[in-house]
Amino acid sequence: MKRIGILGAMPEEINGIVSLLKGKTEVVKGMRTYYVGTINDIEVVVVFSRWGKVASATTVTHLIVEFGITELFFTGVAGAIHPDLNIGDVVIANSLIHHDLDARPILKRFEIPLLEKTILCPPKEMLDKVVESIDELISDESLIHLLSLNQREKFSLSNPKMVVGQIASGDRFFASHEDKENLLVMLPEVLCVEMEGAAVAQVCFEYNIPYVIIRTISDEANDNSVVDFKEFISQVASIFGVEIIKKLVKK
Ligand code: ADE
Repeated sequence: MKRIGILGAMPEEINGIVSLLKGKTEVVKGMRTYYVGTINDIEVVVVFSRWGKVASATTVTHLIVEFGITELFFTGVAGAIHPDLNIGDVVIANSLIHHDLDARPILKRFEIPLLEKTILCPPKEMLDKVVESIDELISDESLIHLLSLNQREKFSLSNPKMVVGQIASGDRFFASHEDKENLLVMLPEVLCVEMEGAAVAQVCFEYNIPYVIIRTISDEANDNSVVDFKEFISQVASIFGVEIIKKLVKK
């Protein structure tokens, strides 16, 4: 029986998704509230993971072990590292890396102990389906029209684009141009940074649960990132997150 876990690192986004649930019940455990119900007649469990790798890894483990989810979507925001990305663009991870994992000289830089991998890749079949759905969502331009003209102007949002590529995760918020440049030197393929994706991907890989990590760019991971991030979260991220989930959770 299919049961989809939906995880997000922002309460604003999760609240919008929870309001889509039919027959909603709540389970409180380990300082998290798990919302169980259906979207488009598919069983889902929605939860706010909180920030960072430990918080998200424990939450996804709970979703797998206690709720028996069979697949997982993570939706959230990220700071842009690649110069061609703009606020509002959607990034889908085809590979994830822990940018703060460094067990040298015992292992290679970024290598995950005992997995003998430095990157984690979601299953191709699920990734392809998600990419196709998000591409449809973005190309019909309805997403951007859900925002007011004021919101679009404030964030200089024209029609967002979708990009598929590498996401780097770590327990750190990027808020300076220097940090961003240093990361690019180490990991030139990274499109954006966030604080949970690789941890969630690692747990899903270890439990053999198909997953996809989807991120909307909230800031440019630079000296403006704190202001952009807070405003984007409160005004845009929840609207985008809900539309993405409505599009993905379908029979
Ligand atoms: N998530 C959203 N913006 C971020 C940033 N600048 N650094 C890390 N995680 C983020």
